[in-house]
Amino acid sequence: MTSPTIKPSILEIAPYVPGLSTAPTDQRLVKMSSNETPLGTSPKALEAYLEAAEELHRYPDGSAAELRAAIGERYGLDPGRIVCGNGSDDLLYLLATTYAGPGDEVLITKYSFAMYEIAARSVGASPVIAQDSLLGSDVDNLLRKVSSDTRICYVANPNNPTGTFLSSDKIERLRNELPDHVMLVIDAAYAEYVQRDDYADAIDLVNRHNNVVVTRTFSKIYGLASLRLGWLYGPSALVEAINRVRCPFNANGAAQTAAIAALEDISFLNAAVRHNEIWRPWLEKALAGIGLVVHPSIANFVLVEFEKSQSIGAAQVYECLLQNGVIGRALTGYGLPDYLRFSVGLKEDNKLLVDLIAEFTGVR
Ligand SMILES: Cc1ncc(COP(=O)(O)O)c(C=O)c1O
Repeated sequence: MTSPTIKPSILEIAPYVPGLSTAPTDQRLVKMSSNETPLGTSPKALEAYLEAAEELHRYPDGSAAELRAAIGERYGLDPGRIVCGNGSDDLLYLLATTYAGPGDEVLITKYSFAMYEIAARSVGASPVIAQDSLLGSDVDNLLRKVSSDTRICYVANPNNPTGTFLSSDKIERLRNELPDHVMLVIDAAYAEYVQRDDYADAIDLVNRHNNVVVTRTFSKIYGLASLRLGWLYGPSALVEAINRVRCPFNANGAAQTAAIAALEDISFLNAAVRHNEIWRPWLEKALAGIGLVVHPSIANFVLVEFEKSQSIGAAQVYECLLQNGVIGRALTGYGLPDYLRFSVGLKEDNKLLVDLIAEFTGVR
């Protein structure tokens, strides 16, 4: 019996493996696998969300007009150049759908966010992988891989899973030296966490050029990962095209309402930045203090390397942590089998993580 044929390009996709949410233990779970905020959701956003429950029988505003206006006001942007989506993943997909197809190339850095390759393959385009430099994007390596078939260049800035970044100067050089036919997608999912003068979320570049788009999310610092809400800011032609292909209600109503309230809760946002500024460096120092190689991160997570010479490797540490209710992120699927990534947690959870690793590796 024959069956309908699945497109070969779809079968080439390695499915996305999310960070685990459960562990084989009765202990309290400490989830450090998905770069969520440890501070939960803004109480104001939660209240707005509960109120939105009264309207669940209604379709949402498909144009997300009120939310786009709120984002525009908060970040000083033209709401007409914003598109909202079902998480920024949705928008990363829509960008691939809009710009690439069979025979086209999509440029990605090695060790960057897995969804870029999935999005490229899902539209039948070929992912082209540029070599990293110290686990981060490298402008020259990216430029070397550009061809007349390149349609999109995805850059996560800061980069997940490594926590590296390209300075605003480097991003600007990348934009300037990319040919005009390439859409530069700057995925700034962790932008709010960055406290460095040499970093910019690239929104300024969008204002000055017609081949740059920035994607952002409410999943990380805003604490709304479960509601699935992301947004992009791009050139008018891009916005107009994406609005043709997106599903008409790709940002749900409760998410829109909660996100508007989250945007207004500046003190919640500032508290999350402050927490991260204290506990990421603390984690980096404490993990280095027990003999581990910790790669510098500017986001809300740390990347830890377990040298092959160590008696207990990344896979064993991951398992031991899991048995104790602490969920890290294994990175074998990213081609980094000797590394684990941990989101910055609450004070007691960060301390627990370090104590457990010290115990397993025999430092204490
Ligand atoms: C770099 C990067 N971009 C995008 C996303 C997707 O976020 P969202 O929840 O908005 O789909 C993630 C999530 O981990 C990420 O790390």
